[in-house]
Amino acid sequence: MILAVCPNTAIDRTAVIAGFAAGKQHKIARVHQQPGGKGVNAARVLKALGQPVLVIGFVGGETGRQFAHGLQREGISAELVRIAGPTRTCLAIVDPRGHKVTEIDELGPEVNALEVQKLNHAVMQHLGRAHFAIFSGSLPPGAPVDLYRRWVELAHKHGVLAAVDAAGPILSQALAAHPYLTKPNQQEAEEHLGYRLSGESAIIQALETLAPQSEIVAITLGARGAAIAVPGRRWRVHPPSISASNTVGCGDAFLAGFLTGLERQLSPEDASRLAIAAGAANALTSGAGTMPAQQITRLETAVQLFPLD
Ligand SMILES: Nc1ncnc2c1ncn2[C@@H]1O[C@H](COP(=O)(O)OP(=O)(O)OP(=O)(O)O)[C@@H](O)[C@H]1O
Ligand SMILES: [Mg+2]
Repeated sequence: MILAVCPNTAIDRTAVIAGFAAGKQHKIARVHQQPGGKGVNAARVLKALGQPVLVIGFVGGETGRQFAHGLQREGISAELVRIAGPTRTCLAIVDPRGHKVTEIDELGPEVNALEVQKLNHAVMQHLGRAHFAIFSGSLPPGAPVDLYRRWVELAHKHGVLAAVDAAGPILSQALAAHPYLTKPNQQEAEEHLGYRLSGESAIIQALETLAPQSEIVAITLGARGAAIAVPGRRWRVHPPSISASNTVGCGDAFLAGFLTGLERQLSPEDASRLAIAAGAANALTSGAGTMPAQQITRLETAVQLFPLD
């Protein structure tokens, strides 16, 4: 079983607005709504790929009820900790004309120490049954910044492999506990390292810097694929060229694909092919993680892998 810990859950709304521009009035042609948050997006893809998964996260208010019902409808198992504040709403505006996605994310509800303690309890209760544990996304205001670090340490104690997908101080803290897998995107890696990943040598330098802190480092680079390091091997993976529709959740799909590959006992190289295919398949759909598994399989054959040395 894979545990997907997603403290800052959300109701994700995706609106399609052709020619979207700031400062203008727009009519929304279509709105799609579904439970979201990075761990939830990853869980949706894990489920599509046949992996048993349990989501753990906070929920509150009317949006929290919608979130819980949405997960239930999708058949995604979850242990949800009720809080006083309402679950946040995140809006993605997809512009099919300008080929751009604008994300407007609420920070999330303020949580108190008792609520964090309850979430911690839920993680402790289920961690032992997991093979992998994903700690993914931002934390709601009020949650301690070292929460993922503590959970990675806890995972080590239980012999569970921890995968971290986070940014800023949450990522830096978590890296200090040496997670099994770390998946920053380009911006998150640049912010953490303090330099731009503009060329191949900077990307290799980034892998070398992060490798001592994580057994598997996967830096995702959007349409340019990913750069990956495992002990003794580094490689680049390139996605097939596609016409992207909505790239929100591509990194979450990538992570789900990678862990599925490892669960299937594939080599990290082959797991990264599956990851890239899942990321690309996600870019083709409008709601995060809503691609059919066959789409991933179809794209996998066109993924290209190049060793780095
Ligand atoms: N336009 C694209 N075309 C093909 N593949 C893509 C595209 N965008 C993303 N991908 C695939 O998805 C993977 C993850 O993308 P990206 O680096 O954008 O993740 P991310 O920024 O962490 O996304 P999120 O946090 O929204 O889940 C890439 O490594 C790539 O394989
Ligand atoms: Mg990401």
